[in-house]
Amino acid sequence: MSSQTTPANAAKPGEPRAYRSAEWFARAGKYGFVPRSWMKSQGFSPELLDGRPVIGICNTWSELTNCNRHLRELAEHVKRGVLMAGGFPLEFPVTSLGEPLMRPTTMMFRNLVAMDVEETIRANPIDGVVLLAGCDKTTPAVLMGAASCDVPAVLVSGGPMLNARFRGRVLGSGTDIFKLDEEYRTGKISKADLDAAEAAMSRSAGSCMTMGTASTMASLGEAMGIGFAMNGSIPAPDSRRAVLAEQSGKRAVELVRQNITISKILTRAAFENAVKVNGAIGGSTNAVVHLLALAGRLGVDFKLEDWDALGRDVPTIVDLKPSGRFLMEEFFDAGGLPVVMQRISHLLNLDAVAVEGGTIGERIADAQSWNDEVIRPLDKPLTPQGGMMVLKGNLAPNGAIIKPSAASPRLMQHRGRAMVFENSEDLRARIDDPDLDVDADSILVLKNAGPRGYPGMPEAGTMALPKKLLEQGVTDMVRVSDARMSGTAFGTVVLHVAPESALGGPLALVRTGDFIVLDCAARKLELEISAEELERRRAAFVPPPPAYERGYGRLYIDHVQQADKGVDFDFLVGGSGTPPSKVSF
Ligand code: FES
Repeated sequence: MSSQTTPANAAKPGEPRAYRSAEWFARAGKYGFVPRSWMKSQGFSPELLDGRPVIGICNTWSELTNCNRHLRELAEHVKRGVLMAGGFPLEFPVTSLGEPLMRPTTMMFRNLVAMDVEETIRANPIDGVVLLAGCDKTTPAVLMGAASCDVPAVLVSGGPMLNARFRGRVLGSGTDIFKLDEEYRTGKISKADLDAAEAAMSRSAGSCMTMGTASTMASLGEAMGIGFAMNGSIPAPDSRRAVLAEQSGKRAVELVRQNITISKILTRAAFENAVKVNGAIGGSTNAVVHLLALAGRLGVDFKLEDWDALGRDVPTIVDLKPSGRFLMEEFFDAGGLPVVMQRISHLLNLDAVAVEGGTIGERIADAQSWNDEVIRPLDKPLTPQGGMMVLKGNLAPNGAIIKPSAASPRLMQHRGRAMVFENSEDLRARIDDPDLDVDADSILVLKNAGPRGYPGMPEAGTMALPKKLLEQGVTDMVRVSDARMSGTAFGTVVLHVAPESALGGPLALVRTGDFIVLDCAARKLELEISAEELERRRAAFVPPPPAYERGYGRLYIDHVQQADKGVDFDFLVGGSGTPPSKVSF
């Protein structure tokens, strides 16, 4: 076909509509000349512009995001799959979010990336997308952006890095950093030992290889059907991940031809499955805010309380760190998520849609376990009650969460005296003070670490234990905050308290010496002071000054919602689809 003529927008028989890319490439005159001609400057032949589906490959690759550093290579495999199926692949970068480097916290930029993804898709001749993500926030961000456009989409995760091996020990990302740090602080290992462990911890491309937030979100993408089977667990360097990427590219073309958009896969049934699978894998607490935000983009009726109601009776059967013993490599070898889903299939919506075609039930029908130590039978769970507990009470009127599989059972019913830290700096300055007035029964309280207060809701909720108590052999204490927790962390940690302290939520009113009651069985979090005293303190509350006066930080502070709503921006909730575009020249 001549590049100067209008392409036929070659819809195949039975295809539901002309693709949106035709608005660019199929136009007559200068309106078609310009987009076609400038694309040809990259060496694309006219054949690629003949009306075939254009598949955007949304790439969160960056050298600032080490976990995603191999995604350029993975994109080449996606491209091959797109071409095999008769599509036209176009890779594009979006802002990336690397957990270990970004400050104040990647969570502050999740919504920015989601905006980047959404607007890039909508502004360009893209009919469907393959979403390449890995490190924690990149996965929810790309899904949220694609959801607000409601285009056909496939999630391809970068996969977990290889297990870390160090002097006969197998180290898990994050999880063992906490332990090594405590060993170093208490003099059990030397600085040289710590340096050697640092060099051994992250030895390949890929995301953290524990069931941390990255593995959780990749697994939940798989569970929700938007990623292929085994998307969550194939190790990053494994050739089978490249095959998965190729097949995902191929499938993206078919999704466009069949007009199967993301909202047809990410239904309420898919969210319900995700909550149950999260319980079974002992997934990260961060999944709570990410799935709430994603549901908000799609208009799916899914609330904080669903996490408890749907997930409370799901046993954790995956024996992975931080809750258990093994790592993602063993999980993959054992059969991965299809085995988990088959074992809890009586709890799942088996007719939910799988992106590769067919249903989730069909996907998992033939799954086989190769290691029952890693993926345990239902009658030998790691924790009988996995999932999340949603707590409410006068200290958290809009809710807070705790992950029972990471908590100490003896502390889940606990009354203790509060030791309050006004913010993270205060915590760092005083936690190792030998005169700190705490004992093993105290409850550590951290304020001003919520979405607006920090800002960006850092993973500060785990709070290192006071050195003097570590030296006494104390290994866990109840901790309460409006912060999040790393998916690789553990402990009896109450998180996401809403409303947050910077807004004058009751957390802001707690004082050192107050008594707090944590009653997980009754789902209660109570501050033992009278309503009158609470009101007196509320009247005297002075909000902290905003951390940002201008720019994105200011936008974030002004528009971010609370944890019980997913920490999305108020003006980003919902979607705008991909309406016909205006031609600008
Ligand atoms: Fe990127 Fe853990 S730091 S996944």
